[in-house]
Amino acid sequence: MTMHTATAQANPNIAFIKYWGNRDNDLRLPSNGSISMNLDGLFTRTTVSFQSSLPFDELIINGHEVPGKGLKRVSYILDLVREMSDVKVNAEVMSENNFPAGAGIASSAAAFAALALASSRAAGLTLSEAQCSRLARLGSGSASRSIPSGFVEWKMGAGDDDSVAVSIAPPEHWDLTDCVAIVSAAHKKTGSTEGHAIAATSPLQNARLEDTPRRLGICRNAILNKDFETFAHIIELDSDIMHSVMLTSNPPLMYWQAATVGIFHQVRSWRADGLPCAYTVDAGANVHVICLGGHAKELEKRLREIPGVSNVLVAGVGGAAKIVS
Ligand code: DP6
Repeated sequence: MTMHTATAQANPNIAFIKYWGNRDNDLRLPSNGSISMNLDGLFTRTTVSFQSSLPFDELIINGHEVPGKGLKRVSYILDLVREMSDVKVNAEVMSENNFPAGAGIASSAAAFAALALASSRAAGLTLSEAQCSRLARLGSGSASRSIPSGFVEWKMGAGDDDSVAVSIAPPEHWDLTDCVAIVSAAHKKTGSTEGHAIAATSPLQNARLEDTPRRLGICRNAILNKDFETFAHIIELDSDIMHSVMLTSNPPLMYWQAATVGIFHQVRSWRADGLPCAYTVDAGANVHVICLGGHAKELEKRLREIPGVSNVLVAGVGGAAKIVS
């Protein structure tokens, strides 16, 4: 008897040029391309096991059974895998994160990347990196970027098949570190999926989209040339532009806390004084401060001294999603 089981592991990623808004919400076809780096050392590990005896799909995250919406989103990916393969039975999905839930690291990217890889392999499919990135994208847009290695670009693409992420440089290309300053462990009120759906209500979204090819080009080249000063300016600009859209959406989304803005000021003054660091923020209050690797210890120490910062997670550049058993 063949065992329809596989385990995969994937890192979360931090976006430097952000994904915000879809041209097709069901297919998660983004309104713009995006660029990110995978976060080494943080991961989700997921085992998918198709079993004929199961009456339903089952989802267990960090030892707890998850019903409802979370399960539905996972079953949607399992259904696609069942359509593509000869395996038609239900599955048990067991997932563990090695980073604290609600620590401000988006877990959906790592989760759906690991799920796409584990479930396709468990069903006996050997998907190309592009096909796997597409499958992950259908679960969570940013998950498409956690499939390839290192520094990654998710191309808008013309449609479902080619809206996928590719590696633009391997992890060893550039020694960057992400020091994530945790300012709020509270669960955010509005998730990304709802946020994407209202992005177009902001009068600023069109201007943001029109300018995105320019920012993508600057960011891609800054990474390829390891030009930290240019990189710092473009990632801060891109984060600020996305949050401007969020703040001016209907209803408005304000993810920043007072401490978030306090860190922006600190980061800019540290950079002006010679510490190579720059900030970027996803759909939450925590600040990802990216620095040249050699300065991570000093940066971490300074962030920990800021009132309102409860913890700092430190991650280098991570590799591709992979099968681990
Ligand atoms: C602000 O990928 O979490 O982190 O596709 O609805 O799961 P869904 O959205 P998600 O959106 C990420 C938004 C972001 C920016 C980014 O990672 O590019």
